[in-house]
Amino acid sequence: MTGPSVPAADWWRQAVVYQVYPRSFADANGDGTGDLVGITHRIPHLVDLGVDAVWLSPFYPSALADGGYDVDDHRDVDPKIGTLAEFDAMVAALHAAGIKLIVDIVPNHSSDRHPWFRAALAAGPGSPERDRYVFRHSDDGPPTDWTASFGGPTWEPVGDGWWYLHMFAPEQPDWNWDHPDVREDHERTLRFWADRGVDGFRIDVAHYLTKDLSGPLPTQAEIEAGTVPEGTHPFNDRDDVHEVYRAWRKVFDEYDPPRMAVAEAVVPTHRRPRYASADGLGQAFTFDLLEADFDAAQFRAVVEQNLALARAAGSTSTWVLSNHDQVRHTSRYALPTGTSLPAWLLSDGTTPRADEARGLRRARAATAFLLALPGSAYLYQGEELGLPEVADLPGVVLQDPTWIRSLGTTKGRDGCRVPLPWNTDGPSFGFGPEDGRPAHLPQPPWFGRFSVQAQAGDPRSTLAFYRTALARRRELVGGEDLDPLDSPDGVVAFARPGGWVCATNFTTRAVPLPAGEVVLCSSGDPSGTGVTELAGGTTVWLRRAD
Ligand code: GLC
Repeated sequence: MTGPSVPAADWWRQAVVYQVYPRSFADANGDGTGDLVGITHRIPHLVDLGVDAVWLSPFYPSALADGGYDVDDHRDVDPKIGTLAEFDAMVAALHAAGIKLIVDIVPNHSSDRHPWFRAALAAGPGSPERDRYVFRHSDDGPPTDWTASFGGPTWEPVGDGWWYLHMFAPEQPDWNWDHPDVREDHERTLRFWADRGVDGFRIDVAHYLTKDLSGPLPTQAEIEAGTVPEGTHPFNDRDDVHEVYRAWRKVFDEYDPPRMAVAEAVVPTHRRPRYASADGLGQAFTFDLLEADFDAAQFRAVVEQNLALARAAGSTSTWVLSNHDQVRHTSRYALPTGTSLPAWLLSDGTTPRADEARGLRRARAATAFLLALPGSAYLYQGEELGLPEVADLPGVVLQDPTWIRSLGTTKGRDGCRVPLPWNTDGPSFGFGPEDGRPAHLPQPPWFGRFSVQAQAGDPRSTLAFYRTALARRRELVGGEDLDPLDSPDGVVAFARPGGWVCATNFTTRAVPLPAGEVVLCSSGDPSGTGVTELAGGTTVWLRRAD
């Protein structure tokens, strides 16, 4: 939230941030891949939606071994999606529209096409060039039996018994964070983008980076059993990673207002405040709501715990239901509780059958709940359209390294990355120009029904609901407190400062409305006009005298 009452340095504390996955948002040049000019052209959509900031997933030069998270050059734009001049124009246009920009920083690894990695391979064992990455010698197979994130071993052979470490795909070699060049180069990257007007940074896999492989090293089984002491793990969530973030904080504070950062730190909940501390990154993602079932007790517990953690860190919480790594939340809520999402995707979304109407109803209720919480709301492109997962993408079109690395047993994340439908018809539903190439991931025939064009004139559409919710939030949001209210079983209700009440009914039976004037309803007409009860699977916001 921005505004006169919020100090400029605190704009992020209760901001609504919209994630743009650039290659799938809008394609201005018609090559089938989204680009920066496409984003600039679509800023009116973001203004109508009412977001405070955009988080832009990687737009750097990349061979796309991992959707752009394999970065060849962290201080440039991929020529397939734009130029630095187009980046500057996009920043200027966003700022002119009152929208801030957060960019993704990928500090755990580079791509294998990065000049420093090429130099490391060329220079050979024992060279200073190799020391910027993590190389080990082992004549009898990989140095450890660790499994990489997308499957397969974490070590890739380069000949003569030498291996390099990659926690993700082999095309993503891990940096050696003990090396001063690596530290300096990343600080240079942060300044490069901050100098160009970027307002903040999303830090990819912030829990990795620093490593101590001096041994003895645990086996994969020992790691999975959780027997490695916290803070001294060889590669995960080490205490010394915060030295890096304390140094970055000094860089952020060179700017006025200071640049913000949000950590993607997949760590035990009690370790999260370290990443969110004011002398470090300042904020950390919470994925607990995304992982919870649509269930009153679970939602209540997640909120209580995370608000306490954010307070402990002096930060605010972040709330997320969808992003570029997850099955879209309308689809998750359409499936029976406990459904294995990888198995569902492997069945092309046929087994079990998704109840789409129920999924959308719950998704809107959960979104209205999330938007009423203190802290920042992170939305993912397309969720404002109620877009379901594209679960039936055939193996031949899949781009996620998970598909190949799992030998075709896990489909991965492409189903939430299908290019957005802007129009009801046309060759790419308005993603690209009429005479452009097809979208880089195929859009299903039903996409047009969810398009911006199809929803824009419908006052009961999901798009209308998001626009209304964000506008109301701007009017209502004030202090960062939350007071739980007594409510019937299966209902979670709370009050926010200034007389704003939110109540969510997680059951399927209607219950009486809490006192107050309904100003938002997640089902039917978002204005809440004529609402006399709190229907099942519904959230309402009410205004009442404080
Ligand atoms: C993060 C990103 C994910 C990427 C991975 C490796 O988890 O969100 O998309 O594959 O890091 O960079």
